[in-house]
Amino acid sequence: MAAEKSRILIIGGTGYIGKFIVKASAQEGHPTFALVRESTAVDPAKAKILDEFKAHGVTLVHGDLYDHDSLVKAIKDVDVVISAVGFGQLADQTKIIAAIKEAGNIKRFLPSEFGNDVDRTNAVDPAKSAFGIKSQIRRAIEAEKIPYTYVSSNFFAGYFLPSLAQATTTSLPTDKVIILGDGNTKAIFTYEEDIGTFTVKSVDDPRTLNKVLYLRPSGNIYTHNELVSLWEKKTGKTFERVYISEEEILKQIQEAPAPLNVILSIHHATFVKGDQTNFEIHQSFGVEATELYPDVKYTSVDEYLNRFL
Ligand SMILES: NC(=O)c1ccc[n+]([C@@H]2O[C@H](COP(=O)([O-])OP(=O)(O)OC[C@H]3O[C@@H](n4cnc5c(N)ncnc54)[C@H](OP(=O)(O)O)[C@@H]3O)[C@@H](O)[C@H]2O)c1
Repeated sequence: MAAEKSRILIIGGTGYIGKFIVKASAQEGHPTFALVRESTAVDPAKAKILDEFKAHGVTLVHGDLYDHDSLVKAIKDVDVVISAVGFGQLADQTKIIAAIKEAGNIKRFLPSEFGNDVDRTNAVDPAKSAFGIKSQIRRAIEAEKIPYTYVSSNFFAGYFLPSLAQATTTSLPTDKVIILGDGNTKAIFTYEEDIGTFTVKSVDDPRTLNKVLYLRPSGNIYTHNELVSLWEKKTGKTFERVYISEEEILKQIQEAPAPLNVILSIHHATFVKGDQTNFEIHQSFGVEATELYPDVKYTSVDEYLNRFL
């Protein structure tokens, strides 16, 4: 481990997952910098986030993905760059790669990933194409020989657990639960704060250099059937389980408008094809976060669900 904590720049720090990474970076004692667009810096809706950053000692740096000079300048001041840009900017992370090349000082780059492993997927479109963009960014990083870590955090708990992982609704079940496939494939639901913590722990760690960091906390791995059973036990209710065949899911993906088709195809890849758990992590390409950092007290699914009681 480096004796001194590296200086970290987060691009996309004001976004959904970015906020947690910025806070974890500051809490872990890294000099932390958040790239903030000038329009965002004056946006009242973002004021609370930026105030929190400042309270954590985070330095706000004005800049934009589409302003090369601002990127180079911000990158020259740090050792590590973490991108948490959203879907619309994923392909344009080539601009971060170009700025890192020009700056020439970056010890580690973590591109915007934070989901399923995009190189090990059985997804159908439109998820397949979206994952393909992240995969292309990986190849561009490797071609430029930039040191990297790819964080495969699997599902965000806050995205999936409020609906008990149902694809077509955002609320908890009242009588029926819709289950894609037979409900016996394991998926992984990770709490966003823990994603921030594990991500930041990895940046100075030689064991994660040029590797995929997988988040597979044992208390967060559930089949859909197990998840429903856990919720039934907590609520004392029983829900009717409605199983949707793969054939029917594929038809729904074809017919659904965006973004439902994207959501359905990610659920299909995970709950039917098992993309989060159907392969072993081999040291040649990856490491598992709770094995590297056993002292992190992560939030289990069991604990997370209590907030809905
Ligand atoms: N595993 C899961 O369950 C899951 C769920 C959702 C997302 N994800 C993944 O998580 C990653 C981040 O997604 P998200 O939903 O957290 O993103 P998001 O909320 O859409 O945030 C996007 C961030 O990018 C910033 N940004 C946009 N345009 C920019 C520009 N021109 N220059 C600099 N910054 C710019 C935004 O800044 P402003 O604040 O200025 O707009 C914001 O901070 C993605 O890779 C996504 O696929 C995973």
